[in-house]
Amino acid sequence: MQSSVASTVDLDRPGTRVQPLIDPFARPITYLRVSVTDRCDFRCVYCMAEHMTFLPKADVLSLEELDRLCSAFIAKGVSKLRLTGGEPLVRRGIMTLVSSLSRHLRTGALKELTLTTNGSQLEKYAAELRAHGVERVNVSLDTLDPDKFRAITRWGDLGKVLAGIDAAQAAGLKIKINAVALRGVNEDEIERLLLWAHGRGMDLTVIEVMPLGDIDQARIDQYLPLSMVRARLAEHFTLEDIDDRTGGPARYVRVKETGGRLGFITPMTHNFCESCNRVRITCTGTLFMCLGQEDAADLRAPLRASESDDLLSAAIDGAIVRKPKGHDFVIDRRHRAPALARHMSVTGG
Ligand SMILES: C[S@@+](CC[C@H](N)C(=O)[O-])C[C@H]1O[C@@H](n2cnc3c(N)ncnc32)[C@H](O)[C@@H]1O
Ligand code: SF4
Repeated sequence: MQSSVASTVDLDRPGTRVQPLIDPFARPITYLRVSVTDRCDFRCVYCMAEHMTFLPKADVLSLEELDRLCSAFIAKGVSKLRLTGGEPLVRRGIMTLVSSLSRHLRTGALKELTLTTNGSQLEKYAAELRAHGVERVNVSLDTLDPDKFRAITRWGDLGKVLAGIDAAQAAGLKIKINAVALRGVNEDEIERLLLWAHGRGMDLTVIEVMPLGDIDQARIDQYLPLSMVRARLAEHFTLEDIDDRTGGPARYVRVKETGGRLGFITPMTHNFCESCNRVRITCTGTLFMCLGQEDAADLRAPLRASESDDLLSAAIDGAIVRKPKGHDFVIDRRHRAPALARHMSVTGG
């Protein structure tokens, strides 16, 4: 893909004016998460049903369109871009997109280009990612037990993910491990994950399961409040609250015994919306202003309607002024249906 076809916003030109995106609650929107595909090589039990219907390929934005979309946001002050999915590394030609987007790192318009991955393809792509200016990646890993891993992902191979992590570290990528806390599945393993991650110089973040999409199972069976995880860890470790922010929703503690950082993402038990700086785009070009609300804006139509970015830019501005204050997820016995019909793999984690 030629970067010249990718964008009509010339960010390389000195003096290009950046008009920052500010939402109605005075929050600057500087962080964009882009789902580059809804497909995945795993079927994690909290994320997808076993037999998912994926989008027809024709509905999905091309790599050039994804680049144009990202570049339009960068022209509006977005300085952090996370590629996600589905599994971003199973999207055909993904390195072409990464390579093309890396031009915004070189101009300084983009401070960080990163991705969230299940790690299955990292062995193949780690060195290339690093060469394109990616400095760190989030790898999702909920257990170090191969059988449990297979059960959670429905058929994933833990060995491949661990080899991917090895390759990424060898290539000089920093890694943060994300683990979803699952009642009765990995709740007794968080300590082991912590020691393993910190022992390899990786941060660990634990995440509360969110009620997104139908998954063949009741959420209440999976849901484990992180207050319980924290209390359990505090029996063995000294957890010191620290102010570190990585631009995402995690709150961090320093674990005195390991020296490593532990993050908590608590959308269910603690509202993290006040400081939200993020919006998300699906692989069909739908912009979600909040992970936990239905309101969305179609950016594909304005993107495809004209070669200029004027319509697209107006559609982005029109959407950001509708960004809601926050979400209101509930998981309890009275709320058995998902809070939102769409899966995390559609909106992008
Ligand atoms: C949807 S995945 C996409 C990227 C990649 N496939 C991966 O697994 O990292 C992004 C993150 O969302 C998390 N996730 C998926 N469904 C979730 C849910 N219902 N609640 C909380 N986290 C979820 C995953 O564990 C993963 O860390
Ligand atoms: S969490 Fe990631 S790896 Fe697991 S099914 Fe969802 S998209 Fe795939």
